[in-house]
Amino acid sequence: MTDATTQTVRVYLYKRYERFWHWSQALLVLTMLLSGFEVHGSYALLGFERAVRLHTLAAWALLLLWAFTIFWQFTTGEWRQYLPTLEKVGAMARYYALGIFVGAPHPFHKTAAKKHNPLQRLAYLALLAAVSPLIWISGLLYLFRAFWPALGLEALPLEWVAWAHTAGAFAMGVFVIAHVYLTTTGHTLFAHIQTMITGWEELPADDADTASSH
Ligand code: HEM
Repeated sequence: MTDATTQTVRVYLYKRYERFWHWSQALLVLTMLLSGFEVHGSYALLGFERAVRLHTLAAWALLLLWAFTIFWQFTTGEWRQYLPTLEKVGAMARYYALGIFVGAPHPFHKTAAKKHNPLQRLAYLALLAAVSPLIWISGLLYLFRAFWPALGLEALPLEWVAWAHTAGAFAMGVFVIAHVYLTTTGHTLFAHIQTMITGWEELPADDADTASSH
């Protein structure tokens, strides 16, 4: 559908499951951050015991959500959206550091088949390949510390696991802050948020030939 006056086209970017997965993950990660830093001792909100229980419950919910989401990514072929590319990475970095503040044009043109810009792809890959494994491996080790002797891990210092987990949590916190800031950089403050709620995005009409709209 093309709007002749504004020369934009409405493109369906995020499918129903994708939006469900995104917002449930956001809620669970915020829960993990909030309860995790209470367990860490940064503040008292729910009380230590309740924070630990909430943290563990949210971890299992996140694991279940990821199991379904990995299945969805592979059955729909959407996993390809996360393949990294170095093309235009420099241009993207320059845009976020400078261009964005002086109204320069966005160097990347989003389409339904390529909805993540190159910097986004690298950030998601780092999250998937480095931050998530660090949090999950240390989190599961932490959770099942009673079984360390049976697994031959009795020599593993608990502080190392706690340190790795907290480092992963800080990295996740930095990602969340950067991610939320970048959601505000669309053509209006809430344009990207709106797209993740409705699934639809307004794109310049000159991209319409490469965008699949339905
Ligand atoms: C976004 C994801 C997560 C964040 C931000 C996060 C954050 C934290 C933080 C800051 C702590 C306190 C660490 C300390 O001071 O020693 C903690 C503790 C813990 N986390 Fe996580 N975590 C996350 C995911 C997970 C996952 C996926 C698991 C399990 C599979 C997990 C299991 C645990 C356990 C068992 C503890 C220790 C609780 C206790 O003392 O009994 N966490 N988490």
